[in-house]
Amino acid sequence: MSNYHVKNLEEYYQVYRKSIRNPELFWEEIAEEHFVWKKRWDTVLSYDFSKPEVKWFEGAKLNITENCIDRHLRVRGDKTAILFEPNDKIEEAQHITYTELHRKVCKMANVLKEQGVKKGDRVCIYLPMIPELAISVLACARIGAVHSVVFAGFSSSALATRINDCEAKMVLTSDGSFRGAKTIDLKGIVDEALESCASVNTVLVVKRTNTDVTMKEGRDAWLAPLLENAFDNCAAEVMDAEDPLFILYTSGSTGNPKGMLHTTAGYMVYTAHTFKNVFNYKEQDVYWCTADIGWITGHSYIVYGPLANGATTVMFEGVPSYPDFGRFWEIVEKHKVSQFYTAPTAIRALAKENLEFVDRYDLSSIKVLGTVGEPINEEAWHWYNDNVGKKKSPIVDTWWQTETGGIMISPIPYVTPTKPTYATLPLPGIQLALMDEQGEEIKGNQVDGRLCVKFPWPSMARTIWGNHQRYKETYFSAFEGKYFTGDGALRDEVGYYRITGRVDDVIIVSGHNLGTAPIEDAINEHPAVAESAIVGFPHDIKGSALYGYVILKETGEGRNHENLRKEINQIITEHIGPIAKLDKIQFTIGLPKTRSGKIMRRILRKIAHNDLNNLGDVSTLLNPEVVQNIIDNRLVVAMK
Ligand code: WT7
Repeated sequence: MSNYHVKNLEEYYQVYRKSIRNPELFWEEIAEEHFVWKKRWDTVLSYDFSKPEVKWFEGAKLNITENCIDRHLRVRGDKTAILFEPNDKIEEAQHITYTELHRKVCKMANVLKEQGVKKGDRVCIYLPMIPELAISVLACARIGAVHSVVFAGFSSSALATRINDCEAKMVLTSDGSFRGAKTIDLKGIVDEALESCASVNTVLVVKRTNTDVTMKEGRDAWLAPLLENAFDNCAAEVMDAEDPLFILYTSGSTGNPKGMLHTTAGYMVYTAHTFKNVFNYKEQDVYWCTADIGWITGHSYIVYGPLANGATTVMFEGVPSYPDFGRFWEIVEKHKVSQFYTAPTAIRALAKENLEFVDRYDLSSIKVLGTVGEPINEEAWHWYNDNVGKKKSPIVDTWWQTETGGIMISPIPYVTPTKPTYATLPLPGIQLALMDEQGEEIKGNQVDGRLCVKFPWPSMARTIWGNHQRYKETYFSAFEGKYFTGDGALRDEVGYYRITGRVDDVIIVSGHNLGTAPIEDAINEHPAVAESAIVGFPHDIKGSALYGYVILKETGEGRNHENLRKEINQIITEHIGPIAKLDKIQFTIGLPKTRSGKIMRRILRKIAHNDLNNLGDVSTLLNPEVVQNIIDNRLVVAMK
């Protein structure tokens, strides 16, 4: 078990230095020792960041599901692989053992094959957090189909965009989904989306809510009878190391969402290795990540990473506030959760409630706490540390991205001294650089700059589906020979990193990465809207909330602004989903623009932050006079 579970900081530095001196050897040893391969690789790594092209473990043959399921059957066949906790606590939790998981995944894989899905085909999965979601993901991987999971909170048009981009052949969905006290008509959303999706010829439907649905003849089928009749063994497809495993969409600042493509071997090795180290995972643990599998966190740290380690991974269908704000802690007590991984936005929401909701439960099983998704503020960090961890469980503040596939910067629990708001140190194999605006690397400590990665790591996305040029431009063009993360960061006196946030036009709302352009496009669909611009402003639960500046086609006098605000948010809900709704909408006569016509968001951001002292030079604007007008009519936001 070399390279696993470093014991102290000195050992971390030793392992880190080794991983930098000879990355190929470092990853090769891990790949050799901890996974099953059908054929060994010929080359550990080949890469060229100018193309960019990155290949790990070329020549190797494997199937990731054999690593996540089959190889555990003999040693831990009766151990719970997936522990499903339903939305309603009166419904019993389900313990799916590795043996049962194998059976269920094989059956599902056979159903997909019978329905004509072949290696390389794309399958869109639009399911709530029920076991069938994880099983579908694994069934695709079993037969070499490329899964594209779309978060089941996205609207029909967001779903359609994602289906069309990758030309998915099939959609897996359910009749409906439970979210707290609400039931959502998922199948209806799919039907609407499919009106504009020509590639889909099959829709398989899980019965979950017993909602009435329309089944389209020749296209739609209930999944249960198909599963019942399917054979329960299915040979794993032999995959090349660099064969696509999945596509996952993430927002871009302009244009359509980007379908990040992840491949097989490197992704497996990296997610499994980081899972074990970052969460100090041991055989008897019950691990719970509260994310949705619709996000990368769920792919890497609910499904693949934990299962590759033979872990018990909790899947929770519900929300933290239902039936009350104690639900998370009740689940921790009930299943004796050892690692608890959530997002700052959830922590902030729970911290607002009575402490009694936490204190009522026995949380002594917890040994590691984690956070991910956005910078965690100091107050939330302390609340989490004091009340959930009881000052005994280290908090791993894990920085990473959909694009990175796995955790990149994080404390190692019980090894790296934590520091609130700091993600601390790079994991082994991760070579970071801070860059200045001139493109020079900033050396030394107590500095800040743009965060880049200088050397490939196994789980990095290989391309944007169907648009390699965009991949190159977005990540490899700002700084030559480096992957640019889009985040700003500072490095303190001991070399710890603190992520300061996005430097581009992406805003993180409740941990969801939202590009400004698609939201503005949606707003502009409103017949009364001429133009719009949105920026983020600090919000004490969501982290950031959205502030929209909207120019109406006519002066807007005589229009009911309250109704317009509702209609605009309704359009956003339809196009993107309720997560992208605007908290503030200011109707304005103009937007500050540069002479080339680019909106000066910096100014709008400052006004939304009510930070008027330092607007910078506005004289270069095409229309400096609008700035004062926007200031005079600004909507005051509640600040922390
Ligand atoms: C962006 C990536 C990684 C899974 C969830 C989000 C921000 C993520 C942290 C953290 C500060 C963080 C960054 C990053 N972010 N984790 N621990 N501290 N910021 O994945 O949707 O691809 O978003 O989330 O800005 O670039 P994503």
